[in-house]
Amino acid sequence: MQRAAREESDGQNGTERTDPTDPSDLHGSRVLRRPRPLCYDGAHIAVKGVTTMIALIIHGGAGKWPENKHARAKAGCEAARDAAYRLLQNGASALDAVEEALRILEDDPLFNAGTGSHPNAAGEIEMDAIIVDGSGCRFGAVAAIQKVQHPISVARRVMDATPHCLLAGCGGTQFAHEQGFPEYRTELLRTADSASPSQDTVGAVALDSQGRIAAATSTGGTANKLPGRVGDSPIFGCGAYANGLAGASATGVGEDLMRVMMARSVVDAACVDPDPSRAARHGVRLLDEIHGTGGIICLRREGAVGFACNTPAMAVAFIDGQGTRASFVKA
Ligand code: GLY
Repeated sequence: MQRAAREESDGQNGTERTDPTDPSDLHGSRVLRRPRPLCYDGAHIAVKGVTTMIALIIHGGAGKWPENKHARAKAGCEAARDAAYRLLQNGASALDAVEEALRILEDDPLFNAGTGSHPNAAGEIEMDAIIVDGSGCRFGAVAAIQKVQHPISVARRVMDATPHCLLAGCGGTQFAHEQGFPEYRTELLRTADSASPSQDTVGAVALDSQGRIAAATSTGGTANKLPGRVGDSPIFGCGAYANGLAGASATGVGEDLMRVMMARSVVDAACVDPDPSRAARHGVRLLDEIHGTGGIICLRREGAVGFACNTPAMAVAFIDGQGTRASFVKA
């Protein structure tokens, strides 16, 4: 599943071969000279001197995932993956791709996010989401917001339209409605699946044709949580993180994931290890050390993807930089 980076150079035109592990490129701060695109072949954009892959990995949450939900979980992740990948193929940004993937998962009542969110102890739906732009060290997030259909798009709006990074509670909900996100009827946010929770959170990490990485995570939080409880998902470096070299999205028990700063820990590991699966397993080992529970997906700029969890199962779908596609509920 791990794919080595492949950068092609004709060696004749003075174009630059970029070192994907050069730490000076963290957060995309180093300006890369990218020559004019020559051709497009599906899995990657070939440019003179540089081949920039596109890639995408999605999770539908770590947890128990009973057998009778596996087919739906796989299909739901595939639908989100394929829609977001089409955007990438058409030149969309990694940010647009991860937002689109999560909007689709937020609309699928099977997943604990958006419409499928678990109710809290008061029977209310409070949702958290984050979107991270790894090329600019930017993020937007919302915590414990209510009555919106797509928390991930509200998080994106926080990033794009305010000087802030995170809006919470009534203020976050009010911001969403003032920004034109329609009031979503609470009863639509309660479904048969959300009443019998078996898994946690959705997330995506994408690499676009410009070499930019974005990560996003959205959740209804833990079932029966205290009103006002906020988990890892909207916390930068915990629920999601990305920089110029790698990105990650976490799932699991938020209180555990925050303690190990899960997404940041895994991205840091991925910055020095070409195998994102090893980086993901490193994150799970950190969780194991504190007897925590969860999982993570990870992607590197060369298009390699990885994942790991210590839960009974996790739903995953990806298309890596080589065009290899897969989807499964890992048991
Ligand atoms: N990982 C999601 C949460 O604990 O809220």
